[in-house]
Amino acid sequence: MEDNCAVILAAGEGTRMRSRKAKVLHSLLGRPLMHYPVDLCRRLGVKRILVVVAHQAEEVQQALVGQPVEFVHQGEPRGTGHAVRQAEECLRGFEGTVMVLAADTPLLREETVRQLVQAHESAGAVATLLTARVADPAGYGRILRDKQGRLRRIVEEVEATAKEKQVAEINTGVYCFAAAPLFEALRRVQVSPVKGEVFLPEVVQVLVKKGQVVQAVLAADATEVQGINTRAELAQAATVLRQRVHDRLMREGVTLIDPQATYIDDTVQVGPDTVIYPGVILEGATTIGEGCVIYSNCRIQNSLLGDGVTVLDGSVIVGSEIAEGCVIGPFAHLRPQTRLKRKVKVGNFCEVKKAVIGEGSKIPHLAYIGDTQMGEKVNIGAGTITCNYDGFTKHETVIEDDVFVGSNTNLVAPVTVGKGAIIAAGSTINEAVPPDAVAFGRAPQVNKEGRAAATRKKREAMAPPKDDDD
Ligand code: UD1
Ligand code: CA
Repeated sequence: MEDNCAVILAAGEGTRMRSRKAKVLHSLLGRPLMHYPVDLCRRLGVKRILVVVAHQAEEVQQALVGQPVEFVHQGEPRGTGHAVRQAEECLRGFEGTVMVLAADTPLLREETVRQLVQAHESAGAVATLLTARVADPAGYGRILRDKQGRLRRIVEEVEATAKEKQVAEINTGVYCFAAAPLFEALRRVQVSPVKGEVFLPEVVQVLVKKGQVVQAVLAADATEVQGINTRAELAQAATVLRQRVHDRLMREGVTLIDPQATYIDDTVQVGPDTVIYPGVILEGATTIGEGCVIYSNCRIQNSLLGDGVTVLDGSVIVGSEIAEGCVIGPFAHLRPQTRLKRKVKVGNFCEVKKAVIGEGSKIPHLAYIGDTQMGEKVNIGAGTITCNYDGFTKHETVIEDDVFVGSNTNLVAPVTVGKGAIIAAGSTINEAVPPDAVAFGRAPQVNKEGRAAATRKKREAMAPPKDDDD
């Protein structure tokens, strides 16, 4: 590719989304729509990426923090042609190829754009646009050709006659231009009498009339150029993108029991021989190792799972790091900053937050462990709770190696349980337990021999016996 730059149009409101949020900020597989064209340009090695913003400009800029882009402000959005004009100042003196992309065409592939640029440069054209043949052209600009099949102009839906509307070849909104002729032609484009906007596709007519080389390249796959204007189109695009992610994962050796019922972001990596059951949602910066099994209806977000991890049905894992061989769930909730070392078990209805759980430790049932440092081979009885919050601040619990915590224990933080200690079931522990001690933190039991009969008699005298089926 020669010297090149890209102008990404992202200033429109996206009224057809019927949203308070600008269209380009809507999320597609975990990332704002805006990210897709920027990513594409980066992969293409485009030297300068200009993003035209206006509607919710601050939020759009925020969504692109850290990306190598420059922003151009459109002021009031008055059409795609008006948007491109705003980049003229920035590109003064630039003589290479200007690619123009809409921010709402996220399915576009690198290869397709590469071919377009190639066709543009090898023909020495002033403009080359990507077109597509679609079953339903409604809403798109139609490509009008003369009797010899030469490109004549693009007519927008709002200005098209009934006959023009029948044309199935559409403008995809992806273009290559030679910089100077583009800006020169834009100055000649009339404001649309119907919409009061300056339409970028109108430059085609201006250039053709001047006898310059303008060409149209037909996209091989029309699904790629689908624009997102409505929520329905957003959902369709998600289906296409998910399919691509699934194809990649299956090629890499991952088993998806039912790909249609699996929801995996593009940003997710999964190791070979991992099996993913239906209803699983994998989001954000998530990496899953080899040979894992993720059962139905689990959601895993921004987490790292080592090899051979099993996540049983209905578990939610967010911002956590899970080492090799752990078993989680069913119905476990791992919240941010949970770190499970190797072979840890976190079972049914357990919640863990901001805690390090040492190798081989077990939290099998109905527990809450938060703000905790736990050593190796610890056993936590059912119903155990770290009371980490006193209503004002959070406090830490430390449980050293080989501790046994009996069922239904309250560990009132800050508190430390020494190595090898045993805590009796039902204890409330609010003082440090020394290593190897047995702690009883409960009221001693009192048995009154033979008193049951007298108790029953007394009760019967108080009220008539009830039917025992209610
Ligand atoms: C546009 C094309 C149409 C093409 C279709 C392909 C025009 C006039 N029409 O129509 O020929 O078939 O894309 O998807 O270009 N934008 C701005 N500033 C503005 C207006 C829009 O930056 O003043 C941005 C939008 O944020 C959007 C992009 O330009 O990302 C396209 O605008 P949109 O309104 O979606 O154009 P379409 O009606 O889809
Ligand atoms: Ca559009």
